[in-house]
Amino acid sequence: MADNGHKGRELYGHEIEFKVLRYAPDKDKRPYFRSYRLILKRGMTVLDALMQIKETQDPTLSYRKSCRMGICGSCAMYVNGKPVLTCQTQVVELGSTLIEVRPLPNFPILRDLVPDLSTFFAAHESVRPHIIRQNPDEVDSVEGEYIQSPGQLERYLQFAYCIKCAACVAACPTSATDSSFTGPQALGAAYRYVADTRDEGMEQRTAALDHPHGLWRCHFAGACSEACPKGVDPALGIQLLKREILKQRLGAGPRDSARLRPPQTGKARREGIPEAPRKTAGD
Ligand code: SF4
Ligand code: FES
Repeated sequence: MADNGHKGRELYGHEIEFKVLRYAPDKDKRPYFRSYRLILKRGMTVLDALMQIKETQDPTLSYRKSCRMGICGSCAMYVNGKPVLTCQTQVVELGSTLIEVRPLPNFPILRDLVPDLSTFFAAHESVRPHIIRQNPDEVDSVEGEYIQSPGQLERYLQFAYCIKCAACVAACPTSATDSSFTGPQALGAAYRYVADTRDEGMEQRTAALDHPHGLWRCHFAGACSEACPKGVDPALGIQLLKREILKQRLGAGPRDSARLRPPQTGKARREGIPEAPRKTAGD
């Protein structure tokens, strides 16, 4: 990778080469690289650079983006050999005058920098990423609340920060060799619900987790946790999930789940809790 001795701020005002992977399956036999040159401006992110290239040099360049603030997860790409959120990665941080941008690996390419994430979202859906209660009345016409302690919240909170950017799957060596592997995002999402005291769905999730391409394929390389831009630790979640599956195999009964507490009457509302907004439709 060319460096030219420029590091950090010294790169401002210098020409940067962006080597971008291009591929249009309807006309290209195989992916190829095309280079574009830009003068690096202060604060320019990799996504800013791609947008400038599209606006000023090549309107045919395709990529995904939406929020531009590290929330939606749509702009993840493989930049200089690492999966990153391009809207959160300043070019200057990369310390190089040559930036190589590819779509996330371990997924088919739809076009240019756009990966096909259909298997990723199918895996996520397969682990039933929502609270499951055994009493359907609690789902259809719930009244009351489940009480959870700060410690119980802490058990799953970090896993709830996932924005489904797929950087962890792009970094995972098991996903690279087994396209049917459930993958770190979906397994981490499964643990987020299994660890939640309000959830009673472990048994319904077992078939999606405990199979030849499921959680036992994880060799704890830890690349997923290193890649995650939101500080989620899917590798930890997968190991804790293995423990829960083993407990289930050894005949440990379901753990006590949070009970629905009926609505409290005659009690003052706790300070600082805002009222729910008024309905705007569907009355
Ligand atoms: S766990 Fe992290 S890297 Fe994986 S999809 Fe969620 S936010 Fe992205
Ligand atoms: S554009 Fe939404 S996370 Fe980057």
